[in-house]
Amino acid sequence: MSVLDKFRLTDRVVVVTGASSGLGVAFAQAAAEAGADVVLAARRTDRLEQTAELVRGAGRQALCVATDITDPAQAQNMIDAGMEKFGRVDVLVNNAGVGTAVPATRETPDQFRQVVDINLNGSYWAAQAAGKVMKPGSAIVNIASVLGITTAGLPQAAYAASKAGVIGLTRDLAQQWGSRKGIRVNAIAPGFFETEMTAQYQGGYLEAMKPRLVLGRLGDPPELAATVVWLASDAAAYVTGQTIAVDGGMTIT
Ligand SMILES: NC(=O)c1ccc[n+]([C@@H]2O[C@H](COP(=O)([O-])OP(=O)(O)OC[C@H]3O[C@@H](n4cnc5c(N)ncnc54)[C@H](OP(=O)(O)O)[C@@H]3O)[C@@H](O)[C@H]2O)c1
Repeated sequence: MSVLDKFRLTDRVVVVTGASSGLGVAFAQAAAEAGADVVLAARRTDRLEQTAELVRGAGRQALCVATDITDPAQAQNMIDAGMEKFGRVDVLVNNAGVGTAVPATRETPDQFRQVVDINLNGSYWAAQAAGKVMKPGSAIVNIASVLGITTAGLPQAAYAASKAGVIGLTRDLAQQWGSRKGIRVNAIAPGFFETEMTAQYQGGYLEAMKPRLVLGRLGDPPELAATVVWLASDAAAYVTGQTIAVDGGMTIT
């Protein structure tokens, strides 16, 4: 097998949460281009159908599952639906997430809880459901953030705490499931990629961040998707428990 073959996801089944917009769309498309069938999960099913068209356009099957990831039963249903349709789940990409910026003295308990509930708890519910059925050789890729590692000028206690939590979750599931189940668990810490999430940051915020970007520009979602495919594939067979920053060098400044 050539080194390039190791990056392929031929006939694997990849579950992508948050596949209705932004990065999740790029991850689903890349997984399909790499040869996988894809389970697409989020709350907006009309938008999931648009992503499904991209997957089918790449010659692979798509299954859309309406999912609010904060509900453990719906996370379980997402994995069950994938098993029923395809008979296997090889990869889980925990991508569903929300970003907020609220000063700590004004943030309400509900605001804080909601961010943690989606970004951190939702990732755990999905991983628990997937971990029960995944076979050796499977992989989980958690989408954390540079905000789990550093700060970026906005008041983001909830977001930063949730993403640091995702990095801790990654480490622990990797050690629980490595030799016992043969499941690798890694995280990606993206820098700045223009999506609906970053569109809420106003007043030239992204422009102001550019001096911290060693590569001098924002990221393009397919550049992140390439790392998802790598971590999901046998090319990363000896990589687990890691958080890979794909951030144009932001975390070294
Ligand atoms: N863009 C960046 O620069 C950047 C940087 C670092 C990390 N990230 C991370 O990348 C991930 C994707 O973000 P994005 O930039 O692509 O933002 P986005 O376009 O706003 O996408 C967020 C996705 O999460 C889904 N989602 C939100 N709440 C959900 C819930 N309760 N249940 C199920 N799905 C839910 C949304 O779908 P529905 O609304 O249809 O449910 C949507 O598909 C997030 O985890 C984010 O923290 C992004």
